[in-house]
Amino acid sequence: MKSHISFNCQSILFEPDQPFWKKVDNNIKLDEFTKEELYYYSNKHREYKKKTFGRKGSIIVKFGSKENDIMCCNVRNSLMEQTNHQQYGFGLKFIQNTHYIEVFGQIEYWNQELKKHCIQTNLKTKYTIGRKIGTGSFADVYLIIHNESKQEFAVKIFDKTSIKFDLTCVKQELDILRLMDHPNTSQIIETYESSKYLYLIQEFYKYGSLYDYLIKTEIPEEDTIRTTYKLLEALISIHSKGVLHRDIKPENILLRKPNLEDIVISDFGLAVYYNDNGKYNHQRAGTPGNIAPEILKDLNYDYKVDVYGLGIVLYQMLTSKQSPFYNQNYHKMLSENREGYIDYSQIKASSQTINLLTKMLDPDPLTRYTALQAKQDQAFKKYNRQTIIIKRKKIVKDQTISSFSPRSNSIYFSPSQQQTPPIIVSSPKNSSQFNRRILGLPLRLKHEDRRQFFSPNSNINSGIYSNLNKKNYKISNNQTRNSIYYGMISQKASC
Ligand SMILES: Nc1ncnc2c1ncn2[C@@H]1O[C@H](COP(=O)(O)OP(=O)(O)O)[C@@H](O)[C@H]1O
Ligand SMILES: [Mg+2]
Repeated sequence: MKSHISFNCQSILFEPDQPFWKKVDNNIKLDEFTKEELYYYSNKHREYKKKTFGRKGSIIVKFGSKENDIMCCNVRNSLMEQTNHQQYGFGLKFIQNTHYIEVFGQIEYWNQELKKHCIQTNLKTKYTIGRKIGTGSFADVYLIIHNESKQEFAVKIFDKTSIKFDLTCVKQELDILRLMDHPNTSQIIETYESSKYLYLIQEFYKYGSLYDYLIKTEIPEEDTIRTTYKLLEALISIHSKGVLHRDIKPENILLRKPNLEDIVISDFGLAVYYNDNGKYNHQRAGTPGNIAPEILKDLNYDYKVDVYGLGIVLYQMLTSKQSPFYNQNYHKMLSENREGYIDYSQIKASSQTINLLTKMLDPDPLTRYTALQAKQDQAFKKYNRQTIIIKRKKIVKDQTISSFSPRSNSIYFSPSQQQTPPIIVSSPKNSSQFNRRILGLPLRLKHEDRRQFFSPNSNINSGIYSNLNKKNYKISNNQTRNSIYYGMISQKASC
């Protein structure tokens, strides 16, 4: 009952104890805000007034009558409702604790943008939840239909009362999702909350994952290269936002079409912001078999862990097999993954592709490619040349209109200009910590919770799992998805 009352006032994601409005400081660049005249109401002043507002991302700026009377408010994770006023028309209401404001006018665009940043509560009036389409380690994913447009979406539902619910991690996943804007990365559409659940609504990728595709289809080498190129572009975009994904694997690559033409990197559940000291929350994160060796060696790490993850994806596409470290024994798989030794001699591919693979799967992060270096590899010569030609044409075209076009920058934006910070590799932490048991359960459980669990080996070593041929195991439809990836999909490495 208590949680229901407090939920009515604020979202579980909202940081309390912040005033609604505060004076703008130097961090707010006012010239980046477009000014708009809107009608304004607040439960503090209880009267409708015409005011000038600006908005950028989740920041709203309110201009007063005097020049330096400018206030700002961050409505991220505030509750938001659409309202309607007889006189002032369509409006948006933002609620933080006991305080609320309403703005009315031409603000449909605000609605479109702010529904990504704010929390709404009326899911059931707008959507109908359909069948389950995925079971995650921390949340389930369902198909959801927008009642008005009948359009299909996917919703990741977190049970706030579950012991698996980790508020800090969910908050971070959502914050990072809100940053994503590349066509090949999944993005958040809106967020809802009820007294028990948190709902993240995303585009529905109805053709499943690259994992499902790999089971059914042998991918020609040319397509593996084209797919890797697209994924590298997505990765470069992710890294340019200062984010490490940490769980790049076929299950987290989803398909918009029944082929590999239009794919996205999804699941930012293990993503973190880059830290130049190489240390992160849940340092040991990822899926065994797909983890960069430096993570399993408890070294400091950086963006290059994702290049390694993508290297394993390329390996899997080329061989239609499991990760090169796949082993029915969970501990052996982790130690082979940690070692990082890969036999390339069995792979049927051109020397150029093998060369790219070895550079992406270099166990030493110092000499391993960055995402940008990988994109510039000879294996992608064709694609890079095309991009250059299009870019040149574009520049010529722009120059006929104006000598400076900021748009051409954004279209061809490449984080090449953005320095990837150098990796800092330190020696392993003290050996007792280093050798401590890696538990086969979701890494995000709190330390004391995690200790109660056991390795999933006991399950893997029994029954059909023990009959699996370790190295040459091919992904096949005859085996259930779980039996092949048992201990890989559902079990993430933890520390
Ligand atoms: N937007 C989506 N469209 C279609 N299927 C999805 C979508 N998001 C997730 N899924 C399915 O649900 C599974 C679990 O979701 P995911 O976000 O990866 O959660 P987890 O962090 O628990 O792995 C995915 O592997 C995929 O099969
Ligand atoms: Mg996943």
